Amino acid sequence: MSADLVIVANRLPVDRVTKPDGSVGWRRSPGGLVTAIEPVMRANDGSWIGWPGGTGPDLEPFEADGMHLVPIGMEPEDVSEFYEGFANGTIWPLYHDLVAKPEFHREWWDRFVHVNRRFAEKAAGIASEGGTVWVHDYQLQLVPQMLREMRPDLRIGFYLHIPFPPAELFQQLPWRRQILEGLLGADLVGFQLPGAAQNFVRLVRQRVGHKTHRDTVYLPDGRTVTAKAFPISIDAAGFEQLAQTDAVADRAKAIREALGNPRKIFLGIDRLDYTKGIYARLRAFSELIRDGHFDVEDAVFVQVAVPSREQVEQYRILRDDIDRLVGRINGALGRIGKPAISYLHTSYPREEMAALYRAADIMVVTPYRDGMNLVAKEYVACRLEDDGALVLSEFAGAAEELRQAWLVNPYDINGMKSALLEAYEADDKQLNRRMKAMRKQIRQHDVAAWADSFMLDLSSAENSTHAKSVQPAVRS
Ligand code: G6P
Repeated sequence: MSADLVIVANRLPVDRVTKPDGSVGWRRSPGGLVTAIEPVMRANDGSWIGWPGGTGPDLEPFEADGMHLVPIGMEPEDVSEFYEGFANGTIWPLYHDLVAKPEFHREWWDRFVHVNRRFAEKAAGIASEGGTVWVHDYQLQLVPQMLREMRPDLRIGFYLHIPFPPAELFQQLPWRRQILEGLLGADLVGFQLPGAAQNFVRLVRQRVGHKTHRDTVYLPDGRTVTAKAFPISIDAAGFEQLAQTDAVADRAKAIREALGNPRKIFLGIDRLDYTKGIYARLRAFSELIRDGHFDVEDAVFVQVAVPSREQVEQYRILRDDIDRLVGRINGALGRIGKPAISYLHTSYPREEMAALYRAADIMVVTPYRDGMNLVAKEYVACRLEDDGALVLSEFAGAAEELRQAWLVNPYDINGMKSALLEAYEADDKQLNRRMKAMRKQIRQHDVAAWADSFMLDLSSAENSTHAKSVQPAVRS
């Protein structure tokens, strides 16, 4: 079977899980990437190449929820050296402002090249003549160039879902030139923010020596590559509809009751990742109670931490740190049946997330660095009454669009305390004004608009002379 549109991402939208009785099932994959691409895939008749989690050989392609999925298996060494190693032990911290220290290991790099080649080969095998391949995220930065060498007839797009760092940080990478050349295999390289696209173009000029003008790179063979920002978003209408259902409304009420109907509920929902600033936000909240600004009778902080990359040491350390912090805060400030922090180390389906968003008065999103942060946008989409407050880090991509949030510097604990307190004390009129403006922004810039604008730019790329034109994603 061949496909006119092929999505290539490290993960499939579903993970293969073995249940306690030994049978095999599928579970939705974590993270923002899957959330964003899924509606685009549904609207197109494409194929999605990705890893179903775990280890084992390539499984046969299959259909799930109307999507054609093509699994790529991983060996244990692929998981430890490509996924946990180079992708999440080198690139992830390097691209997130060195929030943790990246490690540089030559074996990890070799495995990164090897696994990227396998993804490129798989895509080359299923893309139709003159078709379009859309490659996603930091795990697969070498795929565009590899694929172009194998299939010069294809139109190739690449989108980076995480930040792209300034030259001063990127140049630490021993394989910086190979990564830049890998990305230059694409016709269009998309980023979350204009600053990231500028970082990339500057690095290409300085490190690879190609001519550039604004967002265009001129390659010696006559090809051009465009580097541009396409801020990603969510299925705003879908979330709004979900939030409107009776089931979600009832569940939101039940959550508030279970928490003892406090005056205000604070909420954090994040993958348990050191970039997310969970530790600092919980400290800021607890200090407000300690300082007497409010009491555990008045307010509770619900923190959902979705398990993530649990074999990577930095993530294990973080989990222990948060466990200890929550224990200490609740031990010092909680009362019987009234913890200061209600901490849940688990993942929830969309319905439960929507209910939490509806139940929460103050959403707290405080990453040290984040490509976009779709949780912030989901919260806004679910505030049907134009109420609720968003406290948002300046260092999340979403801060460029959600200007009416309480913007904070997550490194500044006192600043965060003031913002949390202001959001706690804000009157309805102020909340209303801010939320209305943010809701308008999210409605107008949803994930369908994001995909359409990327696809439109990609389909007008002039390089691939044989390329067929691809339909932009239709709204679902
Ligand atoms: C972020 C990344 C995605 C990744 C997701 C979940 O959203 O941009 O590429 O899939 O986190 O992380 P994981 O390591 O579990 O795939």
